[in-house]
Amino acid sequence: MQSQFVDTYNRKFYYLRLSVTDVCNFRCRYCLPDGYKRLSRDHFLSVDEIRRLIRAFSQAGCQKIRVTGGEPTLRSDFIDIISAIRQDARVKIVALTTNGYRMARDVKRWYDAGLTSINVSVDSLDVHQFYQITGQNKLKQIISGIDAAFDAGFKQIKVNAVLMRNINSASLPLFLAWIKDKPIQLRFIELMEIGKSKEFFRKYHLSGNEIKQQLIATGWCLKPKTLTDGPAQVFTHADYRGEIGLVMPYEQGFCSSCNRLRVSAQGKLHLCLFGERHIDLRDLLVNDGQINELQQRIRSSLTLKRETHFLHQSNSGMTQNLSIIGG
Ligand code: 5AD
Ligand code: SF4
Repeated sequence: MQSQFVDTYNRKFYYLRLSVTDVCNFRCRYCLPDGYKRLSRDHFLSVDEIRRLIRAFSQAGCQKIRVTGGEPTLRSDFIDIISAIRQDARVKIVALTTNGYRMARDVKRWYDAGLTSINVSVDSLDVHQFYQITGQNKLKQIISGIDAAFDAGFKQIKVNAVLMRNINSASLPLFLAWIKDKPIQLRFIELMEIGKSKEFFRKYHLSGNEIKQQLIATGWCLKPKTLTDGPAQVFTHADYRGEIGLVMPYEQGFCSSCNRLRVSAQGKLHLCLFGERHIDLRDLLVNDGQINELQQRIRSSLTLKRETHFLHQSNSGMTQNLSIIGG
C-alpha cells in the first residue's frame, strides 16, 4: 500500500466523498430553493475517470467512498459507477447520499451492484411539510423506498434531517417514534449558512446543542467513536432500535476528527466542504499510467488543508450550495 494520505495536522483520510453530478430534481429550501441551474459546461466524470480516481485513493488507504451529488441516482450510468467502485477490492464501504427519489424502484439493483450503505434525506414525516421543504410531493415514495432497502438486504439505513426552527423542529417526537422499532440512524444536521443563505439561516438556525440536551435528558447516551467515524456524535437508547446522530458543524473541535476529502463531479479536489481552493485532478485521470502523479498531486495539495472552516464568521468559502459537492 502507498502511505496514507495525511495532512499537516496529522489527520488521516479514510474517506472520499465523490460527487458524480450536480443536477438535482428537488428544491430543498436550505440548498436549492430556486431549483437546479446549470453552472458549468464541463461534463461530469466518466465511469473510467471515476475508476482511476478511486484506485488512487484506495491505494493510499481510503476505505470508504460515498457517492453524492446533486442527486447521483439521476445519472443513467449510476449502476455502472457503483459496480466500478465495488470492483476495487480495497474499498470496504460504498455509500450513497440520495434524496430517495429512485429508491423504491431501484434499490435492489443498487444492492446487487455492491452498494453497502445509504443516507437518504427525510426532512419531515408530514406529507405537506415535506413538500414545503423539498418542493417535491414524494414523502410516501421515499418511505416505501426505505422499506424496499431493508427488503433488499440493507441492515441499517441512515436518514438525514436538517432541523429548522419553526419549520420542522416540533417534529422531534414524531421522528423519535418512527425509529423506535426500525434500524435507522437518524441524523440531525445543523443548518449551515452557505453562500447567500444568510437571511434563511438567521431565521431558522437551531443549535444542535439544544437537541443534544433534550436527548440526554430523555435517556439517550453518547456512543464511543471508532477510528473511521466522522464528526457525527451518535446516541443510543435502550428502548429504541434506531440511533440518533448529531452533526454539529458549529461545535468547537468539529474539524479535528475530519477524515474525509471531497472530489466534485468535474474532478476537482476540495480539501474542505467550505474551502477556498479547488485542485483540478482531471488532467491526471486520462489513463491508468498516471496514478503515481495523481497521488503525488493529492498528497502535496493536502499541505494546504486548513485546520478548520470559517463558518462562524459566515464564511462558507466558494461553496454556494451543497448541490455542487454533496453534504
Ligand atoms: N445546511 C445543512 N445541511 C445541508 N445539506 C444541504 N444543504 C445544507 C445546509 N445549508 C445536507 C442535508 C441534505 C444533504 C444532501 O445535504 O443534510 O440531506
Ligand atoms: Fe437536491 Fe440534496 Fe440539495 Fe435537496 S439538499 S436540493 S435533494 S442536492
